[in-house]
Amino acid sequence: MKYLIASSILVIIVILCFLFYPFELFSHENISYDDEQKGLSEQITIRFSHVVAENTPKGLAAQKFAQLASEKTDGLVNVEVVPNGTLFTDEEELDALMKNDVQMIAPSVSKMTKLALEWGLFDLPFLFQTNEDVTAVFTSEIGQNFLKLHEDENIKGMALWSNGLKQMTSSVKALKKPEDFIGQRFRIMPSDIIAEQFRRLEAVPIPLPFDQVYVSLEANRFEGQENTISNIYSRRLYELQNYMTISNHGFLGYVVLMNKEFWNSLPKDVQTSLTEAMEEATTWMINESMKMNKQQLKVIDKDSSIQIHYLTNEEREAWLNKLMPVYQTLYNQVNEKFVKDFIEQRRKQLETQ
Ligand code: SIN
Repeated sequence: MKYLIASSILVIIVILCFLFYPFELFSHENISYDDEQKGLSEQITIRFSHVVAENTPKGLAAQKFAQLASEKTDGLVNVEVVPNGTLFTDEEELDALMKNDVQMIAPSVSKMTKLALEWGLFDLPFLFQTNEDVTAVFTSEIGQNFLKLHEDENIKGMALWSNGLKQMTSSVKALKKPEDFIGQRFRIMPSDIIAEQFRRLEAVPIPLPFDQVYVSLEANRFEGQENTISNIYSRRLYELQNYMTISNHGFLGYVVLMNKEFWNSLPKDVQTSLTEAMEEATTWMINESMKMNKQQLKVIDKDSSIQIHYLTNEEREAWLNKLMPVYQTLYNQVNEKFVKDFIEQRRKQLETQ
């Protein structure tokens, strides 16, 4: 009997507990967070995907932007940088951006030619002679016009970044005269204007995504390639090539892009902070890429057996003569006013140098 009474009391207690226990204390909304946790729950996350290594000008600039964005918003914005094409390769990243599968990318301007041929302007041979030329164009009105090119495709242009001038490498022979290119296969970025330059040199252009360059070179799918020193260094391409010509014949730049709907959804003060962070990261990046290209050329020269040749003025003239018709090809393809404005601007810059 005693046992029965005791168990009945226990059951009643349990029922009362269920009825009156303040379970709302356990509900998600009412957990009392400390300030840090509260910040986390409100954080805005921006995924920034790119295809190069972390220790490259683009990789470092993306991290710099992430750090500045966090500082300027007191930790509200968290930019997650995903390098090496691990999230999206350079063939996939534009689609992913438009679908908001990723919020930021920074493709090379050459790869943007698949959306608008105007970007091919930056692929013209010997367009820029120094990194200062690049900065002058990027900060000019015409440079800023490029950022507005894709607004109808749900893409906001945030900034133009520079990785500097490109050099040529080959496993077969030193590239000094235009004839040295004949018959060799060169990996290029997908851009008709770049492809035409190699065809004019009677070489075979092979467009390939960046993440496949090292393995394809190892498998002898091509003999040569062109890139900036920092990309040649960080992907260890110099280990697989015997000759390098410091030709400064082409330019590698990036356009930093954000999904436009995502950008529009951000509070105004956050947009202002991100714009400032991007301006600072851009200035930092231009200086850093110049420094890295110089330093890493020294390391390649010292630590590898690659033979380095500096293109002479005479050789440069010969390359230019072969490549000049490419300018006309582009003029025939793109909006005339856009090109005229660009060339006019470039002419004025050259006059004042
Ligand atoms: C990059 O710097 O984003 C890659 C360039 C390339 O594909 O050569």
